[in-house]
Amino acid sequence: MTHLNTDHLTPFGRVTSETIVRAAEQFGTPVYLYDEAVVVRKCQDALNMPNAYGLTVRYAMKANSNRALLQLINNQGLSLDCSTLNEVRRAHTAGIACDRMMLTSQEVPAGKDRQDLETMIREGLVYNICSLRQLKLIADFSVKHDQPMSIRINPGVGAGESVTRNTGDKYSSFGIHMANIEKALDVIHEKGFRINQVHVHIGSGGDPDMWRENIDRELMITEKYFPDAEIVNLGGGFKEARMPDETAADIQELGYYAKERFKDFYRRTGRKLHMSIEPGTYIVANAGYLVTSVVDEKWSGPTGFEFIILDAGMEANTRPLLYGSRHPFYVISNTGKLLSSEFDLSTMKYELDYRVVVGRCCESGDSQSLDYQGHIIPRTMANPEIGDYVVIGGTGAYCSAMSLYNYNSHVQAAELLLREDGKLKMIRKRQTLNQIIHNEQNL
Ligand SMILES: Cc1ncc(COP(=O)(O)O)c(C=O)c1O
Repeated sequence: MTHLNTDHLTPFGRVTSETIVRAAEQFGTPVYLYDEAVVVRKCQDALNMPNAYGLTVRYAMKANSNRALLQLINNQGLSLDCSTLNEVRRAHTAGIACDRMMLTSQEVPAGKDRQDLETMIREGLVYNICSLRQLKLIADFSVKHDQPMSIRINPGVGAGESVTRNTGDKYSSFGIHMANIEKALDVIHEKGFRINQVHVHIGSGGDPDMWRENIDRELMITEKYFPDAEIVNLGGGFKEARMPDETAADIQELGYYAKERFKDFYRRTGRKLHMSIEPGTYIVANAGYLVTSVVDEKWSGPTGFEFIILDAGMEANTRPLLYGSRHPFYVISNTGKLLSSEFDLSTMKYELDYRVVVGRCCESGDSQSLDYQGHIIPRTMANPEIGDYVVIGGTGAYCSAMSLYNYNSHVQAAELLLREDGKLKMIRKRQTLNQIIHNEQNL
């Protein structure tokens, strides 16, 4: 078991129990807290991934689209992977230029959206064609402006942490499936435009061996079908370890493998391909904490459970309900004593300290202690008093960005950044009830 400095919540970050109490007292709970030092380190690690002929790292902004985080990550030298026109617009309003972004989307922009898309592409946005319809609709524009395009291929083999996060097999509608590759090539040849990038994203958080296998598959697809391609984009999806018993993908090792494969490709074909990756989870997941207060407790009898009721739940972190994801728990007294940490449970009496963490939503699935079928699975943790804090770790990716935040009219929580100098900066205000109802109309 990892030995823990009693003050630090995790072995890898700078957040301490003092930071939690300071955040809660200054800004209230529930509140998301991100550790700048972790984000910076992860950006640098990604940029240092071994490669043969150059690397572009695009942060998948869907993981967490907070303006200040986008600016921080962009300042580190990462570009962006956007999945909607609005994500491009949002990043643009944060001061990020279109030539730092790539759009990989299920949308088929029409009208004003289409005009905007064309303007963005002319300003340097990389358009990643994801369907035959998108391909046909962009062909004439591409030829007219001599603008090469990227293409997303569904290779028919994928891997995700759950079936719902596999984006590379026959159950997935993302990209042009290999079954349709000839149709796509017919359009490309008939119209005479250039595909300069091949993109495959097989899923999120899947088996790293599958990610490695995809490198070979994607290079094979590039060699066989896309003679003009100069860039091979391997997608995101690196498995991250949120819990102490999980193992993260080793991106150094994956990079070494990719480097050798890209060199082989050059030896075979004389083509030096630039490599691109799109990590989301890897950059922000373990930089994030959801800080909550204990508001109540309940007991469902001798064969039941001890419930700890927090002032946030599924509306702030939907991942347990959606995927059965486990997140580390830290229990901190309101005076700042670390009562238990997922990374060192050696002082806990296992069966006596089994507890279930729930939120305030009127929904049985509003628990942070669920398996992937929605069953309650108690977790070992200290017994907090009302007013103490339960911090949910690993919540930097797909939590704030993918939450059900207005369910039961709960307001969206504020977001804070723990700066490298130790100061706390609010990077999003707490939403108000008025903002929730702002667009509603009377009968
Ligand atoms: C096209 C694409 N790229 C990158 C990502 C980022 O994946 P992850 O957060 O697992 O790294 C996703 C996530 O779904 C995606 O769809």
